[in-house]
Amino acid sequence: MSNVHTGFSAIVTGGNSGIGKATAERLLNEGAQVLIVDQHAERTWTHPALGYIQADVADASSADLIVQQMIKNTGRLDYLINNAGMVGGAPVETMEFETWQRIIDVNLNAVFRLSKSAIPHLKMSPRGRIVNIGSIMSQLAGVGMAAYTASKHAIAGLTKTLALELGPHNVTANYIQPGAIVTGITAPAINQDPTFTTFWEGKSALGRLGQPKDIANAINFLLTDDADFITAHGLSVDGGVMVNP
Ligand SMILES: NC(=O)c1ccc[n+]([C@@H]2O[C@H](COP(=O)([O-])OP(=O)(O)OC[C@H]3O[C@@H](n4cnc5c(N)ncnc54)[C@H](O)[C@@H]3O)[C@@H](O)[C@H]2O)c1
Repeated sequence: MSNVHTGFSAIVTGGNSGIGKATAERLLNEGAQVLIVDQHAERTWTHPALGYIQADVADASSADLIVQQMIKNTGRLDYLINNAGMVGGAPVETMEFETWQRIIDVNLNAVFRLSKSAIPHLKMSPRGRIVNIGSIMSQLAGVGMAAYTASKHAIAGLTKTLALELGPHNVTANYIQPGAIVTGITAPAINQDPTFTTFWEGKSALGRLGQPKDIANAINFLLTDDADFITAHGLSVDGGVMVNP
């Protein structure tokens, strides 16, 4: 355990599983006080130092409640990790608008709302940070993935704008572009489609899928002093798949 984040407070959305869970655990091990937000009532971890709030980040009222809980717990907010996300959909011709709306609400609108609620506190931090979770789909596209792709492209635009608006307050904003990572989102494909794993392993320069800790490591770096001058950046953590068409 190091103390690189001792004295700092972090909100991690979607922290009950996959990338969010690995990130929350990493930050805790590095000394941060962590508030996990997840839609599920049942927690997948037991560590007493991890605060928890059950909330749907897409609820219009949840952002203020989450930030207020953090301030109540620790009196400060330094890092906002907008990680909660969902996949789904269908080709545009047959996609229900409600499906589109839900994915945009969770993957994009919630990031806007939480960022807005967090900004006054991040400005007061000596190391204010926003890290949003985009995707390789922040640059690429896929059939049947219009809502997810649009939401993750928009994460790039939103994050770059946040970086410009918050830079004068010494707050950085970056986003991660994970490749195929072994998590709850990919579990159905990994378990049910034998070609999924071989396809992504084949595209990866490193010949493997990513693990949640691969993304947690990158998020952790962006929160440290070593990343002080990195902002408005989309960091690919994909094993090289994006350069392999
Ligand atoms: N796994 C991948 O291959 C991959 C690739 C690129 C990007 N991502 C992104 O990584 C992020 C994390 O996903 P993951 O892969 O760890 O999946 P995951 O399913 O393991 O974890 C997602 C977590 O978010 C929570 N969540 C979802 N919707 C929520 C909501 N409305 N309110 C509160 N919590 C909610 C879920 O309950 C879950 O605990 C997502 O934004 C996803 O789009 C994942």
